[in-house]
Amino acid sequence: MSTEKTAADTPVETAEQGPGAASGTAPSLAKEARPARDGEPLLEVDNLGKHFPVTAGLLRRQVAAVKAVDGVSFSVRKGETLGLVGESGCGKSTTGRMIMRLLDPSFGKITFEGEDITKMSQGRLRPLRRDLQMIFQDPYSSLNPRKTVGAIVGAPFRLQNIEAKQGVKKAVQEILELVGLNPEHYNRYPHEFSGGQRQRIGIARTLALKPKLIVADEPVSALDVSVQAQVVNLLEDLQDELDLTYVVIAHDLSVVRHISDRVAVMYLGKIVELADRADLYERPMHPYTNALLSAVPIPDPSERGDRQRIRLQGDVPSPLDPPPACRFHTRCWKAQDICKQVEPPLVELSPGHQAACHFPENTTVSATDEVARAAVAPAAGAAPAEESAPEA
Ligand SMILES: Nc1ncnc2c1ncn2[C@@H]1O[C@H](COP(=O)(O)OP(=O)(O)OP(=O)(O)O)[C@@H](O)[C@H]1O
Ligand code: SF4
Ligand SMILES: [Mg+2]
Repeated sequence: MSTEKTAADTPVETAEQGPGAASGTAPSLAKEARPARDGEPLLEVDNLGKHFPVTAGLLRRQVAAVKAVDGVSFSVRKGETLGLVGESGCGKSTTGRMIMRLLDPSFGKITFEGEDITKMSQGRLRPLRRDLQMIFQDPYSSLNPRKTVGAIVGAPFRLQNIEAKQGVKKAVQEILELVGLNPEHYNRYPHEFSGGQRQRIGIARTLALKPKLIVADEPVSALDVSVQAQVVNLLEDLQDELDLTYVVIAHDLSVVRHISDRVAVMYLGKIVELADRADLYERPMHPYTNALLSAVPIPDPSERGDRQRIRLQGDVPSPLDPPPACRFHTRCWKAQDICKQVEPPLVELSPGHQAACHFPENTTVSATDEVARAAVAPAAGAAPAEESAPEA
């Protein structure tokens, strides 16, 4: 228990404070343009996949595989934020956990700072863990309720055997201040904080060792809408201050739009569209992206125009047995025979804007020709043939 009972007895204020604090509104959809991030790639993911084996019988033989992630490729430049978005179960967290090397990929390659880390042993990964950090969705369950904030945020120093120049306690208090928490609350326990403050503790923990890349898995979806904007703003402030690179995972397109430089849209284990934020939101090419965008509420009626909500029919098919060719064809209102027979590869249809569709929207280029051309000479990073994928 805390040795500073008197401090703990004082109620912790629930209002958010410090960097990132904002008025109690949801993240704004309209965001000022950020300077282009055109640095070196920090992270490169090439044809990455994870097939979880499904076993049965006494001998636990593999009878099937959940194709959670099935050949995704993207890169993230230094200082950039890549948003990864899609419906529940499309493989976002699995992708994030593979990047962190918390899960071993079934196939594909992960390169961090030019080094292939796909099969790096846990021993060799240990120093790299300082550079790669993850923020989890649930700010309560990701914090040990029996540990004080000081112990939680200071744990990475102990785990990595790192001495802070000014001492761990002082270093932790500085980080608490950086994320807008009161350094005096060092000896308090997670249950004494509000949801938004707990997420700030989680963020403080990831910042302890000055990471280079942070994967934030649904960092605000468990929070009250009035607190979401504050945490998103905090992440942005910290990025500018500490030169961080983010992969932000969300199913809420409004959160991803607010914080991302580029956005990748996932459906059933694949990336179906990847583009600069403005390009994706103003000129979505994939019907699935269009459907997701149509569900984002626009607060200002004058900006709604004649936009219609596209209601997708049916549920997301099972990743145990995804539909052949275009995985979206069972729910796509534009589907034709070719969509059920030929998988559309992810190709660049305008500069920096990739989409995987035989009949993309918002493009004047001959997209179908482009797709056909790419189908003959598959793009680098296209998923491997089924039989060539190694066992999960
Ligand atoms: N350890 C596991 N074993 C078997 N299947 C798994 C495992 N982990 C995830 N899956 C399956 O892989 C698919 C992708 O899961 P994942 O958690 O990556 O999705 P997600 O996009 O993060 O979804 P959500 O938005 O709900 O968090 C799902 O069908 C899930 O059931
Ligand atoms: S390839 Fe066909 S089914 Fe797939 S998204 Fe495009 S139009 Fe729809
Ligand atoms: Mg998830």
